[in-house]
Amino acid sequence: MTKKMIIKRAAVILLCLVLVPFFVLYVWSSGIIHKKYKIPLTEIAVPTDSVEVAEGKRLASIAHCGGCHGSDFTGRVVVRIKNEFKFVAPNITKIIPEYTASELERLLKHGIKKNGESVYFMPCFSFHELKDESVARIIAYLKTIAPAPSYPDLPSSIVFYPLGRLHIIQGKLPHMADIIDHDSKDKYVPRDSSQVALGQYIAMSTCTSCHGLDLKGEQGFSPDLVIATAYTPDQFMHLIKTGEGGLGRKKLRLMSETAKNFLSALREEEINAVYAYLRSMHTKQP
Ligand code: HEC
Ligand code: HEC
Repeated sequence: MTKKMIIKRAAVILLCLVLVPFFVLYVWSSGIIHKKYKIPLTEIAVPTDSVEVAEGKRLASIAHCGGCHGSDFTGRVVVRIKNEFKFVAPNITKIIPEYTASELERLLKHGIKKNGESVYFMPCFSFHELKDESVARIIAYLKTIAPAPSYPDLPSSIVFYPLGRLHIIQGKLPHMADIIDHDSKDKYVPRDSSQVALGQYIAMSTCTSCHGLDLKGEQGFSPDLVIATAYTPDQFMHLIKTGEGGLGRKKLRLMSETAKNFLSALREEEINAVYAYLRSMHTKQP
């Protein structure tokens, strides 16, 4: 073997040592990302009445779809985590027309896309707790949105980088469809007309998306909602209606944005109910 041949061979072996693991990482993680779920579709009746469509718009605001997909729903990059992911909330004005009402219902309540794959990151565990009639109204509203162009550099879906793919293989980034208990239904739909029952329903179908399934907060991101008990009822109303904090800090980053732009669609009696529920949770604790 000539010197040249040895160098060539060494280069090929080196290249394989680098490329093969990347190839395995890519193929393995893609298999997980594109896993298909078999959750059957449910027939739903979508209202057409303008009052119900308007209510659907209000409910979609409370569900803060626009917080991720942009106020006009044409999509945006929600977060970038270097070397891991680029979380893209796509332009849904173009996707919704391709979905049937039943497929939208399955997406919102079970986290399953039209193609049978699960979504990442979209808080369907919160929407799973919504009443059927509320989901139907949201869908009625979504179906009225006209398709609009995306802005030029928006990727069409989530971008996974090598470290993110490794996390997927390690199971650190579960599918939304694996987090939801698909058999549970109407778990928090109020059984009586008490304020606390209504407040629990709203909190579990809305605030959980950022404050965690038990409302105890997400480390390094959002606080335990026991913090709401340090608010007076008036301060809490002001927070949800305007986004201004009442405990010294007025500007609360994502919370201020979300409250001002989306949660402010809650009615006063609904906000008071959430407050009553959060207080009742606190007094129940030992
Ligand atoms: C926390 C951010 C977030 C919120 C809130 C959110 N979404 Fe999403 N949504 C996403 C992300 C991220 C994706 C892409 C998920 C994927 O492909 O894994 C997505 C995907 C979608 C899709 C496209 C599914 C497909 O087939 O590609 C639709 C439609 C959609 N969302 C509708 C909604 C509606 C309606 C709401 C409110 C009721 C909502 N989203 C709330 C983040 C969010
Ligand atoms: C889109 C995400 C998101 C949603 C939805 C959300 N929150 Fe928050 N919330 C946050 C974040 C993030 C913080 C921490 C903000 C900070 O400290 O700057 C926060 C902070 C708070 C605080 C503490 C404010 C303070 O003075 O420190 C309260 C109270 C609160 N949220 C109540 C709620 C309630 C009630 C709901 C549901 C009706 C809700 N949040 C829904 C993200 C969210």
